[in-house]
Amino acid sequence: MSENRRRGARDAGRRALLKGLFGAALLPPIDPVLSRLAWPDAALAPQAPLAEATSPFARFDPIAASDADDVVLPDGFTYDVVLKWGDVFTASGRPFGYNNDYIGVFTLGGPEEALLVVNHEYVSLAFAGDAALYPQTFEMIHGRKPTVADYKTDVGLSVVRVRRDDASGAWVPVFGDPLNRRIDAHTPCHYDGPASPLIGQEIIEGTFDNCSGQVTPWGTALSCEENFQARVPELVDAKGRSVRGGSFDLPGGHYGWVVEVDPFDPGSTPVKHTALGRFRHENVGLRAEAGRPLAGYMGDDRIRGHVWKFVSHGLFRPGDNASNRTLLASGTLYAARFNPDGTGEWRPLTLGSRLDPNPEPADAKPFIPRRARTLADCYESLGAIVTDAYPAANAVGATPTGRPEELEVHPTDGSVYIAFTSAAAAAGMWENICGQVWRLEEEDGDVRSRRFRWTRFAVGGPGDSTKSGRVFAQPDNLAFDARGDLWIASDMAGEVMNEREDYRVFKNSGVFRVPVTGADRGAPGLFASMPCEAEPTGPAFAPGEQALFLSVQHPGERFGTRTDAAAAPRGSNWPHRKVGAPPEPAVVAIRRQT
Ligand code: FEO
Ligand code: CA
Ligand code: CA
Repeated sequence: MSENRRRGARDAGRRALLKGLFGAALLPPIDPVLSRLAWPDAALAPQAPLAEATSPFARFDPIAASDADDVVLPDGFTYDVVLKWGDVFTASGRPFGYNNDYIGVFTLGGPEEALLVVNHEYVSLAFAGDAALYPQTFEMIHGRKPTVADYKTDVGLSVVRVRRDDASGAWVPVFGDPLNRRIDAHTPCHYDGPASPLIGQEIIEGTFDNCSGQVTPWGTALSCEENFQARVPELVDAKGRSVRGGSFDLPGGHYGWVVEVDPFDPGSTPVKHTALGRFRHENVGLRAEAGRPLAGYMGDDRIRGHVWKFVSHGLFRPGDNASNRTLLASGTLYAARFNPDGTGEWRPLTLGSRLDPNPEPADAKPFIPRRARTLADCYESLGAIVTDAYPAANAVGATPTGRPEELEVHPTDGSVYIAFTSAAAAAGMWENICGQVWRLEEEDGDVRSRRFRWTRFAVGGPGDSTKSGRVFAQPDNLAFDARGDLWIASDMAGEVMNEREDYRVFKNSGVFRVPVTGADRGAPGLFASMPCEAEPTGPAFAPGEQALFLSVQHPGERFGTRTDAAAAPRGSNWPHRKVGAPPEPAVVAIRRQT
């Protein structure tokens, strides 16, 4: 069971009581005519035939759901393990971290090489029946039990140069490359934005719980701190002050932000952008159009979490990287209010925002004094508001939703796709037993709009399970290909996957392609099935779509190392594929067989 599932289980318990295009290219300006065509729900204009003939991923026959302990692919495809947990890859001898997640792909001048930024979200500890996978496998490999210091060095991010091997066609790391780098929970970080005065010290210690992310149009990576509350205290007061503590013994207010990393400068200091709010950030999807503000769309991954939008004060200027690099330091943060009729509005979180508390007592809110009218009556500063973003959003009437995971901006029309993963306990508009993907369109196609429309784009569930590879559940990470079609990575909870009767049809988690246009619009086709108890994360295409990089996260997380072949599909031995071998997270490159 993944960390976010743990979070969901904890949230449910409390309620009972409580990528440019795949990161490889720059985001193109949005054609305003296309934007109008796509409003409110018209079919998208045909995509340019980019890569239709040349991309190996343009056509494949969907595979059947599988519970094999391997990465299972359509005929004609194969995969290589690029880097796995513990592989030493920096010149200073640092190993690749645990539970690889988001992958940002940066071009290095040709289709044969790339620079990858890889998140390492968390380490797999015991929770609710899971195997204590990280301690178990750490001891198998190192002969001793891991310490908190080991946890802290096995999370964060890796920057690694990769290239395609001429002889084999496989993607391999460039070991010891000067750009290779590890960032972890000890690495000094800077910060900017409205919460800066509250942090009040020059350096923040490290980053962790880095889930998904985004490549910026100016050539950096954004990495999103998600389930920080499992490591440090989450609560802050009306002044935005937090306390030190948790298993990482660090100040809670320093985590839960969006972090920017410059992969081309190995000596650079990561920067946390507090203007984008502090919550359980899954990822941020950017929309950058010349002469307009930069927008970042974000999900707060918790049951009853909100959908967010950041709109920069400054304007995006293509090619002016010095100017564009300042955009995330200053802007307005909005949370979404969804109406059942398919409309919605963005509610700003500023000192002047009018109070409109949602009526559910279980949803955390700030202390609201009698006769209070605006957020200024609840918080001392804008910095305090963005630091306490989740309760503040509940105070201004933002809608608690069905657990938003990734949000991605369509590369052609600028609409926003939202993966709402399973939230079985929710009712009405948010009843999504198996998860759904929604599509959100700004009014007039403008990131500055305060109103939007939403539709359900794809609904998870068993559907017609007689059609091979057509069933999906619990969408998480999203990516678009060069033809504008959507790729969905599913993340089924360990306690239901291959365990609960109604989930058996889905077998292991997988990666699906879902056409955005044409007769099969919204119909998933399974492209890759994961090893047992693993989650596919961070799907990202190599330059020219010559490969699909994918993080295989937490194989064996529920039942640990498989020691008896008859126990299948419980436990895992991937990537070693030998009974008794420790399962290990790894990044793979999927390609056509040569
Ligand atoms: Fe880390 Fe929301 O997945
Ligand atoms: Ca997840
Ligand atoms: Ca995720």
